[in-house]
Amino acid sequence: MPIPQNDSVRRALIERVRYYNELGIYDFYRREFQVSAPVEQPQESVVTSPAVEREEMPARKIANGTAVRTSVEVLPSYLEQSESDPIAALKIIRDDLGDCTRCKLHQQGRKQIVFGVGNPHAELMFVGEGPGADEDAQGEPFVGRAGQLLNNMIKAMGIRREDVYIANVVKCRPPGNRTPERDECETCSPFLMRQIAAIKPKVIVALGAVAAKNLLAINAPMSELRGRFYDFLPSGVRPESGWQGARLAVTYHPAFLLRDPRQKGEAWKDLQMVMKYLGLKPQPKGEV
Ligand code: URA
Repeated sequence: MPIPQNDSVRRALIERVRYYNELGIYDFYRREFQVSAPVEQPQESVVTSPAVEREEMPARKIANGTAVRTSVEVLPSYLEQSESDPIAALKIIRDDLGDCTRCKLHQQGRKQIVFGVGNPHAELMFVGEGPGADEDAQGEPFVGRAGQLLNNMIKAMGIRREDVYIANVVKCRPPGNRTPERDECETCSPFLMRQIAAIKPKVIVALGAVAAKNLLAINAPMSELRGRFYDFLPSGVRPESGWQGARLAVTYHPAFLLRDPRQKGEAWKDLQMVMKYLGLKPQPKGEV
């Protein structure tokens, strides 16, 4: 990539590249093409989708009046993707996260980062919203009351907590257990995507609306999100990884089920759909 002469543009570019690096994006592809007519109003920045972002630099005028527009395509490419061992890949992601200060949650009373827990080779992964007080204290997701219910749900599926992997959209406790805000989710979810890409589960269960909406980038009520599988492939997964992605199911958050136990039967239907796909036999009592 040519280094721009203008100091402020150069600084902005360096900052932007550093930002992408922090998200685990290291490969930048440059494409140049001719524009036949002069560009009068150069576009400063075009964002096509969160999955693949394209930055277009202002057109540079050249002598004959045509413009050359340099487009830098930023394709997420995870640092750990050359690691076939998910344990090593997760360690790279954890190291990259460091003592994270990327969003305001680091200043709002978190005790520690709650990265994720479980079997790095898991076929089944659960994704929640964010740590609560117990999780913040113990450094592990779903260890409070909602966690006890999640454990029972996992047991009813005929498996153990140690067999699955559990993570959250945000890795720091939002103050007063408030819902994580959009910028916090956007800053943190690339790390979740990388965890998913490292583990390569067959099925992901999104627990509650925050997890579902962040993973699927769909803004719909739970009643519409539940009851079906979605194909899910985090952006930036290389085809040579051999992983075609996961199936994603949405169910109620255990904390919601604690408030409204009548919905447990509905959650059990969601889990049965997952069990059927994974060939799991329910625990004899079979109750959530
Ligand atoms: N709720 C969540 O969404 N995640 C946890 O880890 C605990 C409670």
